[in-house]
Amino acid sequence: MKEIPSHGTPLLILYGSNLGTAEGIAEELADIGRSKGFSTETGPLDDYAGKLPVKGAVVIVTASYNGAPPDNAAGFVKWTETLEDQELKGVSYAVFGCGDRNWAATYQRIPRLIDKVLEEKGAKRLTSIGEGDNADDFEYSQEAWEDSFWKDIMKAFHIEAAPKQANKSQLSIEYVSEAAETRLPKRTKHLRRKSSQTKSFIPKAASVQSGILSCVSRRPKRIGKETISGCFRKTAGN
Ligand SMILES: Cc1cc2nc3c(=O)[nH]c(=O)nc-3n(C[C@H](O)[C@H](O)[C@H](O)COP(=O)(O)O)c2cc1C
Repeated sequence: MKEIPSHGTPLLILYGSNLGTAEGIAEELADIGRSKGFSTETGPLDDYAGKLPVKGAVVIVTASYNGAPPDNAAGFVKWTETLEDQELKGVSYAVFGCGDRNWAATYQRIPRLIDKVLEEKGAKRLTSIGEGDNADDFEYSQEAWEDSFWKDIMKAFHIEAAPKQANKSQLSIEYVSEAAETRLPKRTKHLRRKSSQTKSFIPKAASVQSGILSCVSRRPKRIGKETISGCFRKTAGN
């Protein structure tokens, strides 16, 4: 398989998270980014208020709480209110929002706000905002956004991607352990298609794939018609 050489493009992945969903996605993106040759770092949004780098790219993964920022993102959001015109010129960014339509009036308020203000203040949006909805197929939206995000960032930074076929055949999901969380999806048609095309599921007790660990997820996985709760590990072989 043709590998992506380690180009070392900086990729800073920031999260606004109270309960760990956005933080988990940020860590997952960092692992995948590393496997794609990026030099990745993660941190809470508040640690980077006034410090968004112009080198490389910034990804922001954040939730909203009753329309307000998570505890570790309030300072960042406040800082964006003080920005001058074009103050973020040179910053390249992408946003993924974690939300829930049950909070209809303030659905995705914080990710949408950040996505808008960063562009207004001169930053360059690398890809359209992604939105995961806990009341719907969160994971499908997340995966669809990630596909676009990696494609767009590679293009923006002129990084050569590995051949499609080789890339996909190397991905697998491994069941690691049981977990209490259960959520039944409303729609599964497209997920079934996606699962069969891009991932193979290895049930409990399967041998560990050779290859690097790319991410750990506690979201239930849809395999065929079933939703399986547990802890999963995505691996990318070599
Ligand atoms: C008390 C409470 C308030 C919430 N308010 C909103 C909201 O205003 N808008 C929204 O889209 N989601 C809202 N959510 C959903 C969370 O943003 C969503 O579950 C998110 O995935 C949590 O991310 P975290 O685990 O990283 O904190 C709320 C959830 C809770 C528990």
